[in-house]
Amino acid sequence: MPLVSTRQLLDEAAKGGYGVGAFNVNNMEQIQAIMEAAKDTNSPVIIQASRGARAYAQDNYLYHLMLAAAELYPQIPLSMHLDHGNSFETCKSAIELGFTSVMMDGSLKPDGKTPATFEENVEVTKKVVDFSHERGISVEGEIGVLGGVEDGHGAGGTGLEHLTDPDQAVEFAERTGVDSLAVAIGTSHGAYKFTKKPDGSVLKMELVIAIHKRLPKTHLVMHGSSSVPKDLQDIINQYGGKLKPTWGVPVEEIQLGIRNGVRKVNVDTDSRLAITGAIRKVFVEQPEKFDPRDYLKPARAAMQKVIALRMTQFGQAGHAGDYKAISIADMAKGYANGTLSTKPEVSAK
Ligand code: G3H
Ligand code: 13P
Ligand code: ZN
Repeated sequence: MPLVSTRQLLDEAAKGGYGVGAFNVNNMEQIQAIMEAAKDTNSPVIIQASRGARAYAQDNYLYHLMLAAAELYPQIPLSMHLDHGNSFETCKSAIELGFTSVMMDGSLKPDGKTPATFEENVEVTKKVVDFSHERGISVEGEIGVLGGVEDGHGAGGTGLEHLTDPDQAVEFAERTGVDSLAVAIGTSHGAYKFTKKPDGSVLKMELVIAIHKRLPKTHLVMHGSSSVPKDLQDIINQYGGKLKPTWGVPVEEIQLGIRNGVRKVNVDTDSRLAITGAIRKVFVEQPEKFDPRDYLKPARAAMQKVIALRMTQFGQAGHAGDYKAISIADMAKGYANGTLSTKPEVSAK
């Protein structure tokens, strides 16, 4: 199957009532881990690259690795998504390279740190939507701002400072025509999200429910959705790592989100933890090893295991064969003739 649009994956997920994991990659081993997990669980999947990933791996390497994935796993619906685009130009360059969907994160200014105004966010997101839809590419916008800065995205703080306002979410969806909407509900990127198992005082799942009530057909996106499992933290610390005690987003809260309109679930940190623990283990237990394959193979296997588990938990497992690819050219026609709607259905308060 060729690379497909994330919009198609999310429309299908909405029909089936499940969520789709969007997993970040920076190299070949991470792409391989995700594709093997998708094959084993028969899952459609979104692979995403941040600006940092594009700079680290170089665009052409990433793109051709993704083409190889699509070629090797023709049975898996697969989209290539830009994570946290910071400007129109970043989104445009991703689309020109071959990404099949982009996130325009206009909740922050182009520095990726300073909260933008609502009007600035609407303006840049709408510009990206117009450019993208003409080319059959889908767009994720963000309203409200995530916490944390450790990976370069976010306004800092706990994640509670800039929660999504449901009324603004409605206005944003109406004015921009985005295909999916990332919401800020108290999560942040990275390993240090919560200092204890989160409850409703720090993780605002009721906001997801409220936004879904107002925008019942809009695909919602949860960022910062790693669960930061204790067993993966423990392996790292057992083999010389120094992670402080921390909590992520419990899977059952993500599943509650999925029952309330969440269709895309962003996960990066859990993969990083799995990889790091596996590599540390080899270095400590077999210090004589120096062939990268000796530690990258277990690292890849550890990532595959956590991704396959998430695919099952998010409900995408078993759905790879449900549908056929819609070409990007046909997606462009769909946006142009209105069969792919960009006007959200809005319910009264
Ligand atoms: O948005 C956050 C993702 O975890 C990507 O992180 O910018 O360090 O590649 P990154
Ligand atoms: P985590 O850091 O929780 O994995 O979040 C990743 C993310 O939201 C990427 O956009
Ligand atoms: Zn994110």
